[in-house]
Amino acid sequence: MDRLPGIEPLVTVERTRQVADLEWCARLMAANEPWITLQRTYEDSIELLADPLSEVFLFSREGERLGFVMLKLKGSFTGYIQTIVISEAARGQGIGEAAIRFAEDIIFAISPNAFICVSSFNHRARELYLRLGYEQVGILKDYVSKGYDEIFLRKTRGSWNDFKKQKQVNAYIASPKRTDKPKL
Ligand SMILES: CC(C)(COP(=O)(O)OP(=O)(O)OC[C@H]1O[C@@H](n2cnc3c(N)ncnc32)[C@H](O)[C@@H]1OP(=O)(O)O)[C@@H](O)C(=O)NCCC(=O)NCCS
Repeated sequence: MDRLPGIEPLVTVERTRQVADLEWCARLMAANEPWITLQRTYEDSIELLADPLSEVFLFSREGERLGFVMLKLKGSFTGYIQTIVISEAARGQGIGEAAIRFAEDIIFAISPNAFICVSSFNHRARELYLRLGYEQVGILKDYVSKGYDEIFLRKTRGSWNDFKKQKQVNAYIASPKRTDKPKL
């Protein structure tokens, strides 16, 4: 089990596929904005959470669930932070920011890009992402629900080609014999 760095009292992180956890996550989504306005039901959320291509990481404190982040780490647009939500009572303690940084540690190990979508009316979450270095790369008009746009954001560490070269260099430095010198 992992922990969210810098958060006291300690918040643990656990990758989960447990039905009880996914049901809790779906209830949390269905009871909160932006999903209320977007008319995403509990059933819609369960379907998303059960997608085998998604990874769900649950945050808890002393056994009490506080929130989760759902990541897409395979397929096109690798490194998509599909959902992040912290329960209302636990907000404003830095857990959301630490959760995004946790997600980025996973994403930037496999891709130079992290992506996230935010609803046009979700101003505070959007501010948080901009502050953390995300940039708007597009607007998905009427995407989830007619009348509301989704703003598509990206945080990048560079091009795919540079990322691959850097991985080769890192592997070379880490290899005990250093025989396969990367061709740069
Ligand atoms: C957005 C969210 C994940 C942030 O989590 P959090 O634990 O409150 O975040 P932090 O404590 O790290 O606060 C970071 C910033 O988030 C924003 N924030 C804080 N409380 C918030 C709230 N109730 N709603 C939205 N954003 C909030 C603020 O900009 C805050 O910045 P500050 O440091 O200037 O106060 C959380 O508020 C949430 O789950 N909101 C509902 C679901 C949602 O909007 N998810 C994002 C979908 S794209």
